Amino acid sequence: MSLNEFLAALDALAAEAPDRIAAAADLEAWTEVRNALVGRQAGRLTEILAGLGALPKEDRREAGQRANAVKVGIEEALDTRRAALAAAAATSGPALDLSMPARARWIGAVHPVSLVIDDVIEIFRELGFSIAIGPEAEHAWYNFGALNFPADHPAMDMHDTLYLGDEQVLRTHTSPVQVRTMQRYRPPIRVLAPGNVYRRDFFDPSHAPMFSQIEGLVVDEGVSFADLKATLSHFARRFFGASTRTRFRPSYFPFTEPSAEMDVQCGVCGGGGCAVCKQSGWVEILGSGMVHPAVLEHAGIDSERYTGWAFGMGPARTAISRHGIPDIRILYDSDVRFLEQFAR
Ligand code: PHE
Repeated sequence: MSLNEFLAALDALAAEAPDRIAAAADLEAWTEVRNALVGRQAGRLTEILAGLGALPKEDRREAGQRANAVKVGIEEALDTRRAALAAAAATSGPALDLSMPARARWIGAVHPVSLVIDDVIEIFRELGFSIAIGPEAEHAWYNFGALNFPADHPAMDMHDTLYLGDEQVLRTHTSPVQVRTMQRYRPPIRVLAPGNVYRRDFFDPSHAPMFSQIEGLVVDEGVSFADLKATLSHFARRFFGASTRTRFRPSYFPFTEPSAEMDVQCGVCGGGGCAVCKQSGWVEILGSGMVHPAVLEHAGIDSERYTGWAFGMGPARTAISRHGIPDIRILYDSDVRFLEQFAR
């Protein structure tokens, strides 16, 4: 081999190298190109250098220098390409669609029953009521006896009440909090007692074995049925709207005398009659009455000096008539598609 042939081979390699290096699309292809160009085993440069020894002695120095310059040039180009490929590999993940709208953030919503409770508390807070609570596992005396239930009252039957033992029950209403409050505080008393209650019912469209109630109690000197009626009517107008009509129907509870249930005009049909109000145009929202003197005495309050009135309402029933919910069980399902409608 002559020096010219040797140099021509080097020039050819130097000329083709840049395109081949640029064509390496990934690190794997880059490795192949590097091996083909400058690899020690079968690289083209190694092949050319193998001819060095066959050159005349005086040409070898120049040939070696030229070969080294080509090698340095190719290696620089290889390094640059590899850095570019590595950087691209580090930043490319799965294909990104930057025009895709961000997913809406779920910030949660207050349960419609809790919304009713909050609104009721707010309205009565304006009237000077404070909050009282009592235990859900309750002594039977607080749930029944102190509230003037006769010993054979049907509500105490196993079918309605969940007994935890002989004397312990899961409270069937929030009225025992009336007694606990009167035992603890002297009149004037104005409290609201929200809480869960339990009854031995199966789930059906209008019953649940556990539900919430809100109890209200007022005890003071000179408190009358007129106060009860005015306060509860005011509440209904604040809660359902200023033009809401109410009606009081005589009723019976062992712990109030006289007793009355309050109906409001059906919010779903406006009073014309629909499925929610069972075509009557009215929805019952609470039971109420003047605290029975025997209950005051059971709680240690002088019934000659003091009178009181009380009410109990079911926030779930109220939520149902507020929103026209067809089945009470929806309130217990925790279905986010239902609940997120109440985000405020
Ligand atoms: N405790 C009664 C019930 O659960 C409601 C009520 C409360 C009635 C207070 C009158 C006074 O049905």
